[in-house]
Amino acid sequence: MASLTVRQLDDTLKRRLRLRAAHNGRSVEDEVRTILRSAAADEESFAGAAARDDAARAKRETLPAATTRVLLIIGGGIAAYKSLDLIRRLQDRGAHVRCILTGAAQNFVTPLAAGALCGERAYTDLFDQASEFDVGHIRLARDTDLVVVAPATADLIAKMVGGHAGDLAAAVLLATDRPILIAPAMNPRMWAAKATRRNLAQLAADGVHVVGPNAGEMAERGEAGTGRMSEPLEIAAAAAALIHSGGVLAGRRVLVTSGPTHEPLDPVRMLANRSSGKQGHAIAAAAAAAGADVVLVSGPVNLPDPPGVGVVRVETAQEMLTAVEKALPVDAAVFAAAVADWRPQRTSQRKIKKHGPPPTIELVENPDILSTVAHRKSGRPGLVIGFAAETDHVVANAEAKLKKKGCDWILANDVSPATGIMGGDSNTIHLVSADGVESWPPQSKDEVARALIARIAAALADTKK
Ligand code: CTP
Repeated sequence: MASLTVRQLDDTLKRRLRLRAAHNGRSVEDEVRTILRSAAADEESFAGAAARDDAARAKRETLPAATTRVLLIIGGGIAAYKSLDLIRRLQDRGAHVRCILTGAAQNFVTPLAAGALCGERAYTDLFDQASEFDVGHIRLARDTDLVVVAPATADLIAKMVGGHAGDLAAAVLLATDRPILIAPAMNPRMWAAKATRRNLAQLAADGVHVVGPNAGEMAERGEAGTGRMSEPLEIAAAAAALIHSGGVLAGRRVLVTSGPTHEPLDPVRMLANRSSGKQGHAIAAAAAAAGADVVLVSGPVNLPDPPGVGVVRVETAQEMLTAVEKALPVDAAVFAAAVADWRPQRTSQRKIKKHGPPPTIELVENPDILSTVAHRKSGRPGLVIGFAAETDHVVANAEAKLKKKGCDWILANDVSPATGIMGGDSNTIHLVSADGVESWPPQSKDEVARALIARIAAALADTKK
């Protein structure tokens, strides 16, 4: 392999390299190593992708984005302080948020505060060398699913109407082809002014979405009327509604089961298993991010509720079955829960005391929730998907389960302790269906969830909503 020293590079390249290294806090040599490593990884994944067939590639391309990306433009008004809270509220709904602050906004909040909440630097200048080299205003405008302007001041609104591009916020708003949601905030007289009325009518005609403003007291003492920026929760809800209305599962209802079940022996003891619920919860989150109306029936887990998902908490297999049947009809049902196969025949209402020989525990079989739903004569979901947790003969056992349980697809995974799948963050899936077996590469549980949701969306595409 040819060797190369940084000194041999031309001046522009050297300057760019230094800038990039400084921005990433690395030495120039380390930066070069990082670039080479990432080029090699790209090469490998390119070679891998090329080897797979066209159909699989097309399906991968329909994957919904990892998380919804929101570009928040903070304008210069007193309501800007609420925009810091808005960052959190958008993140609560699963969004990755990037921020641009106008010059005027920086009189009210700092790029440092916004950047700290976003987990990445906030952008401020159109002609900032580092950010133009790093991201660039065109990429800022495009690498997002939604642009939110909050507070949208009278001045920023007028710039949007006029197609100005003299600062970063205005240039991004002009360059973006993504939906725009504005949350106006201004003095009631400015809101009522003829120019603002004209501008709002023009923005509506341009397809810009508006939330608020609300009526109430203004920051200026003694001033009241319409002009208060909507509350962060209202803006986040409007943003979520806009994003999800275009999702691949918009208009679909999806049921997911997740987590273990706990089968009580007495008030303090139970039969349980090691399921963390991570995979099921990730599927519910991905379905909601794709616009589905999602019901998640979950056994006891230590996970937060996925954003935008209706969660029904249960303990036992019998409770899970009841909750699942109550949630029907649905377009697709994914059974990711590790349901206990058996429960103690008797549950003592009092703690079983330790006198005499150890008790014998009689077990009875729990209802098979997946099989019950898959075999329904009426109200069977269009797509019934199960998991197969196996330690041996993974695919063969999954094929047998597909037939026995009457479901449409089985996602089989090897749960031997060495794989670290139980409770871990990654998963290796074999999708078993009547069409055959497809083995997916090892990937994170979030990636598995998104791949599955893309598959479900494609399978439901031709069915009636
Ligand atoms: N399942 C279910 N109700 C049960 C048992 C399992 O809904 N009582 C579902 C699981 O959610 C999963 C699938 O059936 O989608 C397969 O679960 P798994 O534990 O792999 O298989 P079992 O049917 O329990 O068979 P075995 O334990 O013998 O492998």
